[in-house]
Amino acid sequence: MKEVDFSTNTLTGKKYPLPMDNDILNIENFLLNNKDKKVVVVQGLGFVGAVMSLICSNALNEEYAVIGVDLANINNYWKIASINEGVFPVIASDPKINEFFEIAKTKKNLLATYDNYAYSVADIVIVDINLDVKKNADFSKKLLNFEVDLSPFKKGIEAIGNYCKEDVLILVETTVPPGTCEKVANPIIKDCLLKRGLSQSDFKLGHSYERVMPGPDYIDSIQNFYRVYSGIDEKSAKETEKFLRTIISTEKYPLTRLGNTNATEMAKVLENSYRAMNIAFIVEWSRFAELASVNLYEVVKAIRMRPTHSNIMFPGIGVGGYCLTKDPLLASWSKQNLFDSDSPLEQSETGVQINDKMPLYAFNYLKETFNDSLVNKKVLLLGVSYRSNVADTRYTPVEPLYDYLKAEGAKITLHDSYVDIWEETSEKVSSDLDKQLKKQIDLLIFSTNHSEYINNKNLINVLMKKNQLFILDTIGVLNEKEIKQLKQYHTVKVIGRGDI
Ligand SMILES: NC(=O)c1ccc[n+]([C@@H]2O[C@H](COP(=O)([O-])OP(=O)(O)OC[C@H]3O[C@@H](n4cnc5c(N)ncnc54)[C@H](O)[C@@H]3O)[C@@H](O)[C@H]2O)c1
Repeated sequence: MKEVDFSTNTLTGKKYPLPMDNDILNIENFLLNNKDKKVVVVQGLGFVGAVMSLICSNALNEEYAVIGVDLANINNYWKIASINEGVFPVIASDPKINEFFEIAKTKKNLLATYDNYAYSVADIVIVDINLDVKKNADFSKKLLNFEVDLSPFKKGIEAIGNYCKEDVLILVETTVPPGTCEKVANPIIKDCLLKRGLSQSDFKLGHSYERVMPGPDYIDSIQNFYRVYSGIDEKSAKETEKFLRTIISTEKYPLTRLGNTNATEMAKVLENSYRAMNIAFIVEWSRFAELASVNLYEVVKAIRMRPTHSNIMFPGIGVGGYCLTKDPLLASWSKQNLFDSDSPLEQSETGVQINDKMPLYAFNYLKETFNDSLVNKKVLLLGVSYRSNVADTRYTPVEPLYDYLKAEGAKITLHDSYVDIWEETSEKVSSDLDKQLKKQIDLLIFSTNHSEYINNKNLINVLMKKNQLFILDTIGVLNEKEIKQLKQYHTVKVIGRGDI
């Protein structure tokens, strides 16, 4: 007998057997309860798609029936089951997430499914699936080795093309290599429609990228923020605009239309490459400041007073999250593979390479400080997520630092109030800060700047009572007064501060 596979809810621990049958009956019943509403299908129920489903089920000036589609596999099916059971699959500090989900439950206008049949009832399909970059982090090379595999993305588009209505609006929000809508998605949809004997000229294909910021303003970063959009032709651009006006406060945040889908796709990856480069730029200056006994925080704050320089970055532990770590590479890949150039976007690739190396610097510094003997050193990492006040640990720079320390034989404990299980390392993470601080510690590392650690008098008081320890602040959590206080008993170092 075949063993049943389960998908585990990473929030509740509940296990769901993977479904064996189709889900058509559920979809039809859902539509009976949502008669006369336009149907929006969101493909992909991850950090973007799950929240986009909430935005659509709480649209500003239209009543939609919303169906979220994800894959019925071990890693992802739980998101579908969780939504249908009334537990939202994304944790965030934004109270609006819960509010919007409760409203959707009351209105009964949000369903999740794994069945591609959903695309056959959709008036609008929003594509929010992932498109990953596989990296080989070999820092000895000038540029990173990486691969972009478009096939999972193509499969997602094919699933839509094989089921959709011939006049559907397909809105791609996934971050794609520039050229993807025109050169990849458009031909796939046309081909599928041709094979189904349907018109190839009535569907609409738009592109509008997400600027969503997981965290306290999750919902507002979609609903109350500026958007850029385009279409594969005039009617696609118009329909895309019409739809966006129903979900975004466009009176206050006017939409920006660009000339074609290559332009909006480029805008997204350029926007993120600009930020990644800004971060990479300050890395060598952090080293210089450390050498020259300079407080780089003080310097950056002074420079930020100039409006033209207000986004110069502070030093840090590295870059994490799903986007800045890959988007410059998607752009460089596109240039070479979709537009046949024989040269990469070298500066952007170098920026990613520099950022990826940042945790290694922090580790080497510790290794040197501890005279190569981190074996059995008791290390407490404060924060494992890649950004303050979020639960997202994807590509967090804390992970390489953790790996390096572990490989050296350090005994590591973890604290993060947002993360229960650190999926990438399978480690349990404590949310009890006091308990972690009571343990014996040799080395304490501020690795994420969660609000909980900032201006926390209790934390400083507890640290003041501990035996001498080494404190490394990788991300500017400690203020001047706290550093001064802690230095009376402990060794304190802050990345980018040569003055300490
Ligand atoms: N996370 C962010 O902050 C953010 C911000 C802006 C843009 N983006 C972009 O948005 C896109 C989605 O990002 P994310 O963070 O939500 O990723 P994610 O990995 O959290 O979610 C993607 C989801 O899509 C599902 N999926 C994959 N193929 C599918 C298919 N064929 N059918 C149905 N579901 C499928 C996956 O199972 C997964 O649940 C990416 O292109 C990302 O770069 C993300």
